Amino acid sequence: MGEKRIVLVTGSKQGIGYAIAEAFAQNGDQPIIVDLELEEAKKSANILAEKYDIKPIAYVADVSSHESVQKLVENVINEFGQIDILVNNAGLQHIDPVENFPIEKWDILINVMLKGPFLLTKYVVPHMKKRQYGRIINISSVHGKTASPYKSAYVSAKHGVVGLTRTVAIEVANDNITVNAVMPGAVKTLLVENQLKKLAEEDGISEEEALHKHLLHKQALKRFIKAEEVAATCVYLASKGASSITGETISVSGGW
Ligand SMILES: NC(=O)c1ccc[n+]([C@@H]2O[C@H](COP(=O)([O-])OP(=O)(O)OC[C@H]3O[C@@H](n4cnc5c(N)ncnc54)[C@H](O)[C@@H]3O)[C@@H](O)[C@H]2O)c1
Repeated sequence: MGEKRIVLVTGSKQGIGYAIAEAFAQNGDQPIIVDLELEEAKKSANILAEKYDIKPIAYVADVSSHESVQKLVENVINEFGQIDILVNNAGLQHIDPVENFPIEKWDILINVMLKGPFLLTKYVVPHMKKRQYGRIINISSVHGKTASPYKSAYVSAKHGVVGLTRTVAIEVANDNITVNAVMPGAVKTLLVENQLKKLAEEDGISEEEALHKHLLHKQALKRFIKAEEVAATCVYLASKGASSITGETISVSGGW
């Protein structure tokens, strides 16, 4: 294999993002861990570098901030000269009925999960165009195609990023850049563990009942999706065999 592809994964110090970084490392690519805290991002990058033939590379960035994203892309390009694969994965959840939904929470969720992918795409695409190669993968959710109660901001952001995916896919189609969205079902990460308590409280039921009512009831497999299963789909979307797949959404959701 030739030169390692540079893979920038946002929100990758833990959870699904970390699994995506790991899957690309395993595939022979060079992941870059990007997250809100440098020390934690470095720790995750070091763990990966001990396991795979890669360098430990970590950057700090807040994907919702214009300046932060611009600086991140500038620094990565100065150091590595290219970004071959961009995975917009950073995210967070907030649960409240719409009438109680705090406006500042709405803003944060939309800014991280919709504006973030827009900003990263905006600043990375010119470099991909220059090299006439790029793979952009946006981590949406089954909530990019369906809704659940109390998640108005999350569902809106995840639907929104599908629109961004489809639009940019058309704009960059002739530059050998593909843009796709992955829609995971429930993966047992901190994001999900933290919300079960709140969902149980809202409905006056146990966390186990909330898991089945909110997360697994529409799902055929009746089990959590593994982060590695989401990651494998990302590696596939960035593979040669997937070169003609663009503007698509692919569910990794156990039949949801
Ligand atoms: N866990 C699930 O069931 C599930 C299902 C579908 C989609 N997703 C999506 O997968 C992605 C990853 O989620 P996860 O479950 O691994 O959650 P997680 O909470 O384990 O990880 C999210 C990461 O994003 C980072 N992050 C948050 N805000 C950021 C910002 N402004 N800038 C940079 N990084 C930021 C966090 O620090 C964290 O490391 C999210 O977009 C989430 O919506 C998760």
